[in-house]
Amino acid sequence: MAEEQGEQAKQLVAEGRAREEGGMSEADDAIWRQLRCHMEALRAWGVQFVPRQPPWVGSVPASEAGRAIARLATEGGPAESSPAASGVEGAERGSDLAASASAGVGSGSAGGAVSSEAAVVPVGSLFADAAGEVSEVPASPEGRRKALVELALEVERCRRCEELYATRTQTVFGTGPLDAEICFVGEAPGADEDRQGEPFVGRAGQLLTRIIEAMGFKREEVYICNILKCRPPGNRTPTVEESRHCFPYFQRQFRLVRPKYLVALGNTAVRALLQTTAGVTKLRGRVYEFQGVPLICTYHPAALLRDPSGKMKRETWEDMKMLLRLMGRPVPNPRQDNNR
Ligand code: URA
Repeated sequence: MAEEQGEQAKQLVAEGRAREEGGMSEADDAIWRQLRCHMEALRAWGVQFVPRQPPWVGSVPASEAGRAIARLATEGGPAESSPAASGVEGAERGSDLAASASAGVGSGSAGGAVSSEAAVVPVGSLFADAAGEVSEVPASPEGRRKALVELALEVERCRRCEELYATRTQTVFGTGPLDAEICFVGEAPGADEDRQGEPFVGRAGQLLTRIIEAMGFKREEVYICNILKCRPPGNRTPTVEESRHCFPYFQRQFRLVRPKYLVALGNTAVRALLQTTAGVTKLRGRVYEFQGVPLICTYHPAALLRDPSGKMKRETWEDMKMLLRLMGRPVPNPRQDNNR
């Protein structure tokens, strides 16, 4: 491995030198300089090896994400282009995030994007302090279950966001089994969730349950949680700082639960998981990856409730069908789609 990396580095340097000596066009020169900056940034983040092509292209994919994407590629993939940004974003609670939704910064594959032209900012720039927190994951299911309970208790004591700590009734950690097939990730608890201590139990939650059932699952079979574990007062959109405070909890929860697929519901979840400033309207319709797990983005159920045209509902159902194909599961009868 070390030898391979050395060879790769030597080859890159040789290629660079050849370009520099061979007299490049201005455009080539700019690309070469950008590439060099990119490589240096990667090295600074501790990346020591970059495969020449993603492992799932033309070879047996190594990760579950790779396998799923390869399956989708052979069985017919999602629409190639995501719908044009309509200016209507899927964030819950009358979010102000829509305005900045299409203001993506940079591009590339940071933040776990598997297939995307989406604007994705480098890992760590939104949640720099969250990225470093890595904790041990127990090997046994009992160990993981116990660690999850301990994590939930730690969350209960959390005072990182003064305002949320002062106004919450209780924290809302998450529900569902270990190794869940799917983990749905929302924004933050609302009033009902704050009262009951369980995510997605209000109107948006009931719609989410119907979506889950329409996909052929029972609610208890999937994992459901939020980026924030406390209700923002008045159901306001969480601040970036609040997301950053809470994200390490999600990361630990995710590692302990080990879901096979992730669904980010709405802008807050999409932005935290993909480390992006782009919005769900732009990012839905494609498959991404979060720490080796395939991730898709779709509208928040609360946004569906506010869309009288039904367009968002139809698009959400398209996203769920894409996920089912990705998972290699049967897609429910299309005749029923009209009613969803
Ligand atoms: N909206 C969310 O994002 N999460 C919930 O748990 C409920 C509503």
